[in-house]
Amino acid sequence: MKVLSVISMVCLVMLGGAWAAGQTVRGNPKEGYAVYEKNCLRCHGSTLDGKGPDSQDLIVRPANLQSPITRSKSDWELLVAISNGVLFSPMHSFRGKLTDQQMLDVLSYIRTVSPSDIVS
Ligand code: HEC
Repeated sequence: MKVLSVISMVCLVMLGGAWAAGQTVRGNPKEGYAVYEKNCLRCHGSTLDGKGPDSQDLIVRPANLQSPITRSKSDWELLVAISNGVLFSPMHSFRGKLTDQQMLDVLSYIRTVSPSDIVS
């Protein structure tokens, strides 16, 4: 029995590692676009360049999600920004407003338009 649990632990660690390294977002980009249009477009813009209709009024300009800076970040980092918000910026937390699945969906939409630069 003990051997079995060790084996399953090893499998879990391997699976987790593959997820972290593989950068595969398990979201639906189509659903994500609807979430984006409703919650993010006014700041991040229709082309993800950070020039949405509300962006002019903000002191801290929305991130250009097409930029190499964002593209060099991991899915995990972007998810943390979406769920927890970015400190001292108008980017507030979407936890409680969007479901976990919606956050994954919107992230996969972002990655579809602006693919990750991280080589995995
Ligand atoms: C009120 C305007 C506003 C809205 C609405 C908004 N954001 Fe943001 N977002 C920002 C600002 C401002 C930043 C931070 C820019 C900085 O750090 O300089 C940011 C940062 C981010 C980042 C981090 C980028 C990086 O490279 O670290 C992600 C990812 C992001 N937003 C995604 C989203 C998503 C997805 C939504 C919709 C669910 C959304 N934002 C809605 C203004 C907004």
